[in-house]
Amino acid sequence: MRSAFTDTSGIFTRSYSTQVCKELSGLRNARDLRFNNTFITGRRIVLAKNDWKGKLSNPTKDPSACQLQMTSHSTTRYKVAVLGCTGSVGQRFIQLLENHPWFEVVAVGASSRSAGQKYSQACRWKQSTPLPNYVKDMEIRECKASEFPEVDIVFSGLSNQVAGDIEEEFAASGKAVFSNAKNHRMDPDVPILIPAVNASHIGLIEYQRRKRGWDKGFIVTNANCSTTALCLGLKPILDRFGIEAMIVTTMQAISGAGYPGLPSMDIIDNVVPFIGGEEPKMESESLKIFGHLDTEKIVPASIKVSAMCNRVHVLDGHTECVSLKLKTRATCEQVIQAIEQFPPFTRSLQLPSSPERDVVYTDWIDRPQPRLDRHTGNGFTVTLGRVRECSVMDIKLVLFGHNTVVGAAGGSIINAELSVAKGFIAQKGKQSVYAAVSRH
Ligand SMILES: NC(=O)c1ccc[n+]([C@@H]2O[C@H](COP(=O)([O-])OP(=O)(O)OC[C@H]3O[C@@H](n4cnc5c(N)ncnc54)[C@H](OP(=O)(O)O)[C@@H]3O)[C@@H](O)[C@H]2O)c1
Repeated sequence: MRSAFTDTSGIFTRSYSTQVCKELSGLRNARDLRFNNTFITGRRIVLAKNDWKGKLSNPTKDPSACQLQMTSHSTTRYKVAVLGCTGSVGQRFIQLLENHPWFEVVAVGASSRSAGQKYSQACRWKQSTPLPNYVKDMEIRECKASEFPEVDIVFSGLSNQVAGDIEEEFAASGKAVFSNAKNHRMDPDVPILIPAVNASHIGLIEYQRRKRGWDKGFIVTNANCSTTALCLGLKPILDRFGIEAMIVTTMQAISGAGYPGLPSMDIIDNVVPFIGGEEPKMESESLKIFGHLDTEKIVPASIKVSAMCNRVHVLDGHTECVSLKLKTRATCEQVIQAIEQFPPFTRSLQLPSSPERDVVYTDWIDRPQPRLDRHTGNGFTVTLGRVRECSVMDIKLVLFGHNTVVGAAGGSIINAELSVAKGFIAQKGKQSVYAAVSRH
Protein backbone atom coordinates (compact mmCIF):
# COMPACT_ATOMS: atom_id res chain seq x y z
CA MET A 1 0.00 0.00 0.00
CA ARG A 2 1.33 3.46 -0.84
CA SER A 3 -0.78 6.55 -0.86
CA ALA A 4 0.22 10.07 -1.70
CA PHE A 5 0.87 12.58 1.05
CA THR A 6 -1.19 15.72 1.26
CA ASP A 7 0.71 18.92 1.67
CA THR A 8 -1.31 21.34 3.71
CA SER A 9 1.38 23.94 4.18
CA GLY A 10 1.49 23.35 7.90
CA ILE A 11 1.02 19.62 8.02
CA PHE A 12 1.30 16.63 5.83
CA THR A 13 0.73 13.03 6.47
CA ARG A 14 2.37 10.38 4.42
CA SER A 15 1.49 6.74 4.31
CA TYR A 16 4.37 4.49 3.50
CA SER A 17 4.62 1.16 1.79
CA THR A 18 3.91 -1.85 3.95
CA GLN A 19 7.59 -2.69 4.23
CA VAL A 20 8.54 0.80 5.39
CA CYS A 21 5.57 0.84 7.78
CA LYS A 22 6.77 -2.36 9.33
CA GLU A 23 10.09 -0.70 9.99
CA LEU A 24 8.50 2.47 11.29
CA SER A 25 6.27 0.45 13.56
CA GLY A 26 9.36 -0.67 15.33
CA LEU A 27 9.91 2.91 16.40
CA ARG A 28 7.13 3.14 18.93
CA ASN A 29 9.26 5.20 21.22
CA ALA A 30 10.22 7.66 18.56
CA ARG A 31 7.05 9.67 18.92
CA ASP A 32 8.54 13.05 18.45
CA LEU A 33 11.27 13.37 15.90
CA ARG A 34 13.16 16.25 14.41
CA PHE A 35 14.12 15.48 10.90
CA ASN A 36 16.83 16.62 8.70
CA ASN A 37 18.94 13.84 7.39
CA THR A 38 17.57 11.72 10.23
CA PHE A 39 18.05 8.00 9.88
CA ILE A 40 15.18 5.62 10.51
CA THR A 41 16.23 2.02 10.43
CA GLY A 42 18.56 2.51 7.55
CA ARG A 43 16.36 4.96 5.69
CA ARG A 44 17.16 8.61 5.48
CA ILE A 45 14.48 11.26 5.79
CA VAL A 46 15.55 13.99 3.41
CA LEU A 47 14.12 17.44 3.81
CA ALA A 48 14.47 20.49 1.66
CA LYS A 49 13.89 22.73 4.67
CA ASN A 50 15.21 22.53 8.20
CA ASP A 51 12.10 23.47 10.10
CA TRP A 52 9.97 20.36 9.84
CA LYS A 53 9.07 18.38 12.89
CA GLY A 54 7.97 14.77 12.60
CA LYS A 55 5.62 12.73 14.70
CA LEU A 56 5.01 9.04 14.35
CA SER A 57 1.29 8.64 14.77
CA ASN A 58 -1.00 5.68 15.36
CA PRO A 59 1.53 2.88 15.11
CA THR A 60 -0.77 -0.13 15.31
CA LYS A 61 -0.36 -3.83 14.84
CA ASP A 62 -1.40 -3.34 11.24
CA PRO A 63 1.85 -2.12 9.73
CA SER A 64 0.19 -0.48 6.73
CA ALA A 65 -1.71 1.86 9.08
CA CYS A 66 1.47 3.50 10.25
CA GLN A 67 1.82 7.14 9.38
CA LEU A 68 4.44 9.77 9.79
CA GLN A 69 3.02 13.23 10.29
CA MET A 70 5.19 16.20 9.50
CA THR A 71 4.62 19.72 10.70
CA SER A 72 6.26 22.69 9.08
CA HIS A 73 7.03 26.02 10.62
CA SER A 74 8.30 27.10 7.25
CA THR A 75 8.23 30.79 6.49
CA THR A 76 7.50 30.16 2.82
CA ARG A 77 4.23 31.96 2.28
CA TYR A 78 1.61 31.40 -0.39
CA LYS A 79 1.76 34.05 -3.09
CA VAL A 80 -1.56 35.82 -3.30
CA ALA A 81 -3.23 38.51 -5.39
CA VAL A 82 -6.03 40.90 -4.51
CA LEU A 83 -8.43 41.70 -7.34
CA GLY A 84 -10.67 44.73 -6.97
CA CYS A 85 -7.86 46.04 -4.78
CA THR A 86 -8.98 49.67 -4.87
CA GLY A 87 -12.53 49.10 -3.62
CA SER A 88 -14.07 48.91 -0.18
CA VAL A 89 -13.48 45.16 0.18
CA GLY A 90 -10.17 45.25 -1.74
CA GLN A 91 -8.72 47.84 0.66
CA ARG A 92 -9.75 45.71 3.62
CA PHE A 93 -7.86 42.76 2.07
CA ILE A 94 -4.77 44.92 1.66
CA GLN A 95 -5.03 45.97 5.30
CA LEU A 96 -5.72 42.52 6.78
CA LEU A 97 -3.07 40.74 4.70
CA GLU A 98 -0.21 42.95 5.90
CA ASN A 99 2.27 40.62 7.65
CA HIS A 100 -0.01 37.62 7.27
CA PRO A 101 1.98 34.53 8.32
CA TRP A 102 0.74 32.28 5.48
CA PHE A 103 -0.06 34.71 2.66
CA GLU A 104 2.09 37.25 0.88
CA VAL A 105 0.42 39.76 -1.44
CA VAL A 106 2.61 39.86 -4.55
CA ALA A 107 0.16 41.31 -7.06
CA VAL A 108 -2.95 43.47 -7.23
CA GLY A 109 -5.57 43.92 -9.94
CA ALA A 110 -8.40 46.30 -10.75
CA SER A 111 -10.12 47.80 -13.79
CA SER A 112 -8.34 49.19 -16.83
CA ARG A 113 -8.94 52.63 -15.28
CA SER A 114 -6.45 51.76 -12.53
CA ALA A 115 -4.18 49.27 -14.34
CA GLY A 116 -0.63 50.49 -14.91
CA GLN A 117 -0.72 52.87 -11.96
CA LYS A 118 0.98 52.45 -8.61
CA TYR A 119 -1.42 51.37 -5.88
CA SER A 120 -0.87 54.59 -3.92
CA GLN A 121 -1.82 56.64 -7.01
CA ALA A 122 -4.91 54.72 -8.06
CA CYS A 123 -6.41 53.99 -4.66
CA ARG A 124 -8.22 56.46 -2.44
CA TRP A 125 -7.25 54.78 0.84
CA LYS A 126 -10.17 54.93 3.29
CA GLN A 127 -8.98 52.67 6.10
CA SER A 128 -8.15 54.04 9.53
CA THR A 129 -4.65 52.48 9.53
CA PRO A 130 -1.84 53.79 7.30
CA LEU A 131 -1.54 52.48 3.74
CA PRO A 132 0.86 49.52 4.16
CA ASN A 133 4.32 50.08 2.69
CA TYR A 134 4.36 46.70 0.97
CA VAL A 135 1.69 47.75 -1.50
CA LYS A 136 2.40 51.45 -2.06
CA ASP A 137 4.54 51.00 -5.18
CA MET A 138 2.91 47.83 -6.47
CA GLU A 139 1.72 48.28 -10.03
CA ILE A 140 -1.95 47.46 -10.55
CA ARG A 141 -2.50 44.81 -13.23
CA GLU A 142 -5.44 44.09 -15.51
CA CYS A 143 -7.57 41.25 -14.14
CA LYS A 144 -6.47 38.55 -16.59
CA ALA A 145 -5.11 35.25 -15.27
CA SER A 146 -2.16 35.45 -17.68
CA GLU A 147 -1.02 38.60 -15.83
CA PHE A 148 -0.72 36.68 -12.54
CA PRO A 149 1.45 33.63 -13.31
CA GLU A 150 3.22 33.55 -9.94
CA VAL A 151 0.10 33.50 -7.80
CA ASP A 152 -1.41 30.53 -5.89
CA ILE A 153 -4.41 32.26 -4.29
CA VAL A 154 -6.68 35.04 -5.51
CA PHE A 155 -8.76 37.16 -3.17
CA SER A 156 -11.51 38.86 -5.13
CA GLY A 157 -13.21 42.10 -4.14
CA LEU A 158 -14.41 42.58 -7.70
CA SER A 159 -17.65 44.30 -8.50
CA ASN A 160 -20.56 41.97 -9.33
CA GLN A 161 -20.65 43.38 -12.82
CA VAL A 162 -17.37 41.71 -13.77
CA ALA A 163 -16.58 39.15 -11.07
CA GLY A 164 -18.36 36.15 -12.65
CA ASP A 165 -16.20 35.65 -15.73
CA ILE A 166 -12.95 36.92 -14.27
CA GLU A 167 -13.10 34.65 -11.22
CA GLU A 168 -13.89 31.65 -13.41
CA GLU A 169 -10.94 32.37 -15.68
CA PHE A 170 -8.57 32.54 -12.70
CA ALA A 171 -9.92 29.29 -11.21
CA ALA A 172 -9.65 27.53 -14.57
CA SER A 173 -6.01 28.59 -14.74
CA GLY A 174 -5.27 26.82 -11.44
CA LYS A 175 -5.77 29.53 -8.82
CA ALA A 176 -7.73 29.08 -5.60
CA VAL A 177 -10.26 31.92 -5.84
CA PHE A 178 -12.00 33.39 -2.78
CA SER A 179 -14.84 35.58 -3.95
CA ASN A 180 -17.03 38.21 -2.35
CA ALA A 181 -19.33 38.70 -5.31
CA LYS A 182 -22.79 37.23 -5.68
CA ASN A 183 -22.16 35.75 -9.14
CA HIS A 184 -21.15 32.19 -8.17
CA ARG A 185 -22.72 31.92 -4.71
CA MET A 186 -25.74 29.95 -5.79
CA ASP A 187 -23.89 27.72 -8.30
CA PRO A 188 -24.71 24.19 -7.10
CA ASP A 189 -21.03 23.18 -7.09
CA VAL A 190 -19.73 26.27 -5.25
CA PRO A 191 -19.77 26.47 -1.45
CA ILE A 192 -20.73 29.60 0.48
CA LEU A 193 -18.29 29.00 3.26
CA ILE A 194 -18.28 30.27 6.86
CA PRO A 195 -15.88 27.96 8.71
CA ALA A 196 -17.56 28.21 12.12
CA VAL A 197 -20.93 27.41 10.53
CA ASN A 198 -20.46 24.96 7.67
CA ALA A 199 -16.79 23.92 7.37
CA SER A 200 -17.83 20.57 5.88
CA HIS A 201 -19.14 22.37 2.75
CA ILE A 202 -15.51 22.81 1.72
CA GLY A 203 -15.80 19.21 0.48
CA LEU A 204 -17.76 20.53 -2.51
CA ILE A 205 -14.45 21.69 -3.99
CA GLU A 206 -13.61 18.11 -5.02
CA TYR A 207 -16.84 17.83 -6.99
CA GLN A 208 -16.47 21.33 -8.47
CA ARG A 209 -13.03 20.45 -9.81
CA ARG A 210 -14.25 17.17 -11.30
CA LYS A 211 -17.30 18.76 -12.85
CA ARG A 212 -15.46 21.71 -14.36
CA GLY A 213 -12.30 19.82 -15.27
CA TRP A 214 -10.10 22.02 -13.06
CA ASP A 215 -7.12 20.24 -11.55
CA LYS A 216 -5.94 22.77 -8.97
CA GLY A 217 -8.19 25.82 -9.16
CA PHE A 218 -11.55 26.32 -7.52
CA ILE A 219 -13.99 29.01 -6.38
CA VAL A 220 -15.16 29.44 -2.80
CA THR A 221 -17.49 32.32 -2.01
CA ASN A 222 -18.46 34.36 1.00
CA ALA A 223 -22.06 35.07 1.75
CA ASN A 224 -23.47 38.50 1.31
CA CYS A 225 -22.25 40.52 4.34
CA SER A 226 -25.58 40.73 6.20
CA THR A 227 -26.13 36.98 5.69
CA THR A 228 -22.72 36.12 7.15
CA ALA A 229 -23.49 38.00 10.37
CA LEU A 230 -26.94 36.38 10.52
CA CYS A 231 -25.75 32.80 9.99
CA LEU A 232 -22.70 33.04 12.23
CA GLY A 233 -24.73 34.73 14.97
CA LEU A 234 -27.56 32.19 14.85
CA LYS A 235 -25.41 29.07 14.53
CA PRO A 236 -25.25 28.40 18.31
CA ILE A 237 -29.05 28.62 18.50
CA LEU A 238 -29.59 26.49 15.40
CA ASP A 239 -27.31 23.77 16.75
CA ARG A 240 -28.91 23.67 20.21
CA PHE A 241 -32.62 24.22 19.50
CA GLY A 242 -33.21 24.16 15.72
CA ILE A 243 -34.90 27.02 13.90
CA GLU A 244 -38.26 26.79 12.15
CA ALA A 245 -38.65 30.37 11.00
CA MET A 246 -36.95 33.74 11.27
CA ILE A 247 -37.72 37.35 10.52
CA VAL A 248 -34.73 39.65 10.21
CA THR A 249 -34.64 43.43 9.85
CA THR A 250 -31.24 44.87 9.01
CA MET A 251 -29.62 48.27 9.54
CA GLN A 252 -26.71 48.16 7.14
CA ALA A 253 -23.63 50.37 6.95
CA ILE A 254 -22.73 52.64 4.06
CA SER A 255 -19.45 50.82 3.32
CA GLY A 256 -21.59 47.84 2.28
CA ALA A 257 -22.42 49.76 -0.87
CA GLY A 258 -18.75 50.02 -1.89
CA TYR A 259 -16.76 53.19 -2.48
CA PRO A 260 -17.85 55.96 -3.00
CA GLY A 261 -21.22 54.36 -2.29
CA LEU A 262 -24.38 56.37 -1.76
CA PRO A 263 -24.34 60.13 -2.38
CA SER A 264 -24.12 61.96 0.96
CA MET A 265 -27.36 63.79 0.09
CA ASP A 266 -29.16 60.44 0.08
CA ILE A 267 -27.84 59.01 3.34
CA ILE A 268 -27.05 61.86 5.78
CA ASP A 269 -29.93 62.32 8.24
CA ASN A 270 -31.67 59.38 6.64
CA VAL A 271 -32.62 55.69 6.51
CA VAL A 272 -33.15 54.13 3.08
CA PRO A 273 -35.53 51.14 3.30
CA PHE A 274 -34.22 49.49 0.15
CA ILE A 275 -30.99 47.73 -0.82
CA GLY A 276 -31.21 46.25 -4.31
CA GLY A 277 -31.27 42.42 -4.29
CA GLU A 278 -30.34 42.17 -0.60
CA GLU A 279 -33.54 40.63 0.75
CA PRO A 280 -33.72 37.70 -1.71
CA LYS A 281 -29.98 37.11 -1.17
CA MET A 282 -30.41 36.84 2.61
CA GLU A 283 -33.35 34.50 2.17
CA SER A 284 -31.66 32.10 -0.26
CA GLU A 285 -28.02 32.20 0.86
CA SER A 286 -28.83 31.55 4.52
CA LEU A 287 -30.62 28.31 3.58
CA LYS A 288 -27.68 27.12 1.49
CA ILE A 289 -25.25 27.95 4.31
CA PHE A 290 -27.36 26.13 6.91
CA GLY A 291 -27.90 23.21 4.52
CA HIS A 292 -25.96 19.95 4.47
CA LEU A 293 -23.45 18.61 1.97
CA ASP A 294 -24.69 15.68 -0.07
CA THR A 295 -21.57 14.80 -2.14
CA GLU A 296 -22.45 16.82 -5.23
CA LYS A 297 -24.70 19.52 -3.88
CA ILE A 298 -25.85 21.35 -0.79
CA VAL A 299 -29.33 20.38 0.35
CA PRO A 300 -30.77 23.65 1.68
CA ALA A 301 -32.11 23.89 5.22
CA SER A 302 -35.86 24.05 5.54
CA ILE A 303 -36.35 27.25 7.50
CA LYS A 304 -38.79 30.03 6.65
CA VAL A 305 -36.84 33.27 6.29
CA SER A 306 -38.17 36.77 5.80
CA ALA A 307 -35.69 39.66 5.45
CA MET A 308 -36.17 43.43 5.44
CA CYS A 309 -33.06 45.43 4.61
CA ASN A 310 -32.32 49.09 5.34
CA ARG A 311 -29.31 51.30 4.67
CA VAL A 312 -28.49 53.51 7.67
CA HIS A 313 -26.13 56.34 8.43
CA VAL A 314 -23.31 54.15 9.86
CA LEU A 315 -19.86 53.73 8.32
CA ASP A 316 -18.99 50.09 9.07
CA GLY A 317 -20.97 47.18 10.51
CA HIS A 318 -24.44 45.74 10.04
CA THR A 319 -26.93 45.53 12.92
CA GLU A 320 -29.79 43.03 12.63
CA CYS A 321 -32.97 42.57 14.70
CA VAL A 322 -34.07 38.94 14.54
CA SER A 323 -37.20 37.09 15.71
CA LEU A 324 -37.01 33.30 15.80
CA LYS A 325 -39.43 30.41 15.95
CA LEU A 326 -37.47 27.53 17.46
CA LYS A 327 -37.95 23.81 16.88
CA THR A 328 -37.40 23.10 20.57
CA ARG A 329 -38.79 25.65 23.02
CA ALA A 330 -36.11 27.42 25.05
CA THR A 331 -35.91 30.08 27.71
CA CYS A 332 -33.89 33.25 27.17
CA GLU A 333 -31.32 31.97 29.67
CA GLN A 334 -30.90 28.75 27.69
CA VAL A 335 -30.44 30.70 24.46
CA ILE A 336 -27.81 32.93 26.07
CA GLN A 337 -26.08 29.86 27.48
CA ALA A 338 -26.00 28.27 24.01
CA ILE A 339 -24.34 31.39 22.61
CA GLU A 340 -21.83 31.60 25.45
CA GLN A 341 -20.96 27.91 25.21
CA PHE A 342 -20.53 27.91 21.43
CA PRO A 343 -17.09 26.36 20.85
CA PRO A 344 -14.39 28.65 19.40
CA PHE A 345 -14.22 26.68 16.16
CA THR A 346 -11.76 28.69 14.07
CA ARG A 347 -9.46 29.16 17.08
CA SER A 348 -9.45 25.41 17.67
CA LEU A 349 -8.12 24.95 14.13
CA GLN A 350 -5.36 27.45 14.89
CA LEU A 351 -6.13 29.50 11.81
CA PRO A 352 -3.99 32.64 11.92
CA SER A 353 -6.90 35.10 11.62
CA SER A 354 -9.23 33.30 13.98
CA PRO A 355 -10.65 35.44 16.76
CA GLU A 356 -10.72 34.18 20.33
CA ARG A 357 -14.48 33.60 19.90
CA ASP A 358 -16.48 33.45 16.67
CA VAL A 359 -19.62 34.57 18.49
CA VAL A 360 -20.03 36.46 21.77
CA TYR A 361 -22.95 37.59 23.89
CA THR A 362 -23.07 41.05 25.48
CA ASP A 363 -25.38 41.62 28.41
CA TRP A 364 -25.30 45.42 28.18
CA ILE A 365 -28.94 46.41 27.77
CA ASP A 366 -28.20 48.79 24.87
CA ARG A 367 -25.71 46.71 22.87
CA PRO A 368 -24.52 45.59 20.32
CA GLN A 369 -23.78 48.95 18.69
CA PRO A 370 -21.70 49.53 15.54
CA ARG A 371 -19.36 52.12 17.04
CA LEU A 372 -18.66 50.07 20.17
CA ASP A 373 -18.71 46.51 18.87
CA ARG A 374 -17.26 46.61 15.36
CA HIS A 375 -13.73 45.90 16.61
CA THR A 376 -14.65 42.84 18.70
CA GLY A 377 -12.30 40.03 17.69
CA ASN A 378 -10.67 42.48 15.23
CA GLY A 379 -13.95 42.49 13.32
CA PHE A 380 -14.03 38.68 12.98
CA THR A 381 -16.48 38.12 15.86
CA VAL A 382 -20.26 38.48 15.66
CA THR A 383 -21.83 40.04 18.77
CA LEU A 384 -25.31 39.15 19.99
CA GLY A 385 -27.35 40.89 22.65
CA ARG A 386 -30.82 41.70 23.92
CA VAL A 387 -32.14 38.12 23.90
CA ARG A 388 -35.75 38.29 25.07
CA GLU A 389 -39.08 36.57 24.63
CA CYS A 390 -41.07 37.34 21.51
CA SER A 391 -44.86 37.30 21.82
CA VAL A 392 -45.31 36.47 18.12
CA MET A 393 -42.39 34.08 17.55
CA ASP A 394 -40.41 32.52 20.45
CA ILE A 395 -37.26 34.58 20.92
CA LYS A 396 -35.98 37.92 19.64
CA LEU A 397 -32.47 39.35 19.72
CA VAL A 398 -30.07 41.82 18.13
CA LEU A 399 -26.87 40.80 16.37
CA PHE A 400 -24.01 42.71 14.83
CA GLY A 401 -21.20 41.86 12.39
CA HIS A 402 -18.50 43.90 10.64
CA ASN A 403 -19.47 43.92 6.97
CA THR A 404 -16.02 44.32 5.39
CA VAL A 405 -14.14 42.12 7.89
CA VAL A 406 -16.09 38.98 8.87
CA GLY A 407 -18.68 39.81 6.19
CA ALA A 408 -16.19 40.18 3.33
CA ALA A 409 -12.37 40.34 3.20
CA GLY A 410 -11.78 38.79 6.63
CA GLY A 411 -14.26 36.01 5.84
CA SER A 412 -12.40 35.21 2.62
CA ILE A 413 -9.07 35.13 4.42
CA ILE A 414 -10.39 32.69 7.04
CA ASN A 415 -11.84 30.58 4.20
CA ALA A 416 -8.44 30.51 2.51
CA GLU A 417 -6.76 29.59 5.80
CA LEU A 418 -9.21 26.71 6.24
CA SER A 419 -8.58 25.58 2.66
CA VAL A 420 -4.83 25.57 3.29
CA ALA A 421 -5.28 23.71 6.57
CA LYS A 422 -7.44 21.10 4.81
CA GLY A 423 -4.94 20.63 2.01
CA PHE A 424 -6.93 22.05 -0.88
CA ILE A 425 -4.31 24.53 -2.12
CA ALA A 426 -1.12 23.63 -3.89
CA GLN A 427 1.80 25.99 -3.53
CA LYS A 428 4.16 26.81 -6.34
CA GLY A 429 7.78 26.23 -5.47
CA LYS A 430 6.94 24.32 -2.33
CA GLN A 431 6.58 20.89 -3.82
CA SER A 432 10.16 20.19 -2.86
CA VAL A 433 9.44 20.65 0.82
CA TYR A 434 8.56 17.10 1.71
CA ALA A 435 10.15 14.17 3.32
CA ALA A 436 11.46 11.58 0.96
CA VAL A 437 12.38 8.19 2.27
CA SER A 438 15.33 6.76 0.44
CA ARG A 439 17.79 3.96 0.83
CA HIS A 440 20.98 5.43 2.10
N1 LIG B 1 -18.70 46.34 0.73
C1 LIG B 1 -19.12 45.29 1.44
O1 LIG B 1 -19.37 45.39 2.65
C2 LIG B 1 -19.28 43.95 0.79
C3 LIG B 1 -19.54 42.87 1.60
C4 LIG B 1 -19.68 41.61 1.03
C5 LIG B 1 -19.57 41.47 -0.32
N2 LIG B 1 -19.34 42.56 -1.11
C6 LIG B 1 -19.16 42.34 -2.55
O2 LIG B 1 -17.76 42.50 -2.81
C7 LIG B 1 -17.56 43.05 -4.11
C8 LIG B 1 -16.77 44.34 -4.00
O3 LIG B 1 -17.53 45.27 -3.26
P1 LIG B 1 -16.97 46.70 -2.88
O4 LIG B 1 -17.96 47.22 -1.92
O5 LIG B 1 -15.55 46.62 -2.48
O6 LIG B 1 -17.09 47.46 -4.31
P2 LIG B 1 -16.28 48.73 -4.82
O7 LIG B 1 -15.82 49.56 -3.69
O8 LIG B 1 -17.17 49.37 -5.83
O9 LIG B 1 -14.99 48.11 -5.56
C9 LIG B 1 -15.09 47.44 -6.78
C10 LIG B 1 -13.71 47.01 -7.28
O10 LIG B 1 -13.89 46.33 -8.53
C11 LIG B 1 -12.99 46.89 -9.50
N3 LIG B 1 -13.58 46.85 -10.85
C12 LIG B 1 -14.67 47.48 -11.31
N4 LIG B 1 -14.85 47.21 -12.63
C13 LIG B 1 -13.85 46.39 -12.99
C14 LIG B 1 -13.46 45.76 -14.23
N5 LIG B 1 -14.14 45.95 -15.35
N6 LIG B 1 -12.37 44.97 -14.24
C15 LIG B 1 -11.64 44.78 -13.11
N7 LIG B 1 -11.95 45.37 -11.92
C16 LIG B 1 -13.03 46.16 -11.86
C17 LIG B 1 -12.80 48.32 -9.07
O11 LIG B 1 -11.58 48.83 -9.61
P3 LIG B 1 -11.40 50.36 -10.09
O12 LIG B 1 -11.09 51.16 -8.84
O13 LIG B 1 -10.26 50.31 -11.03
O14 LIG B 1 -12.69 50.78 -10.73
C18 LIG B 1 -12.74 48.17 -7.54
O15 LIG B 1 -11.45 47.79 -7.18
C19 LIG B 1 -18.94 43.22 -4.71
O16 LIG B 1 -19.23 42.12 -5.50
C20 LIG B 1 -19.85 43.31 -3.49
O17 LIG B 1 -21.16 42.91 -3.76
C21 LIG B 1 -19.16 43.80 -0.58
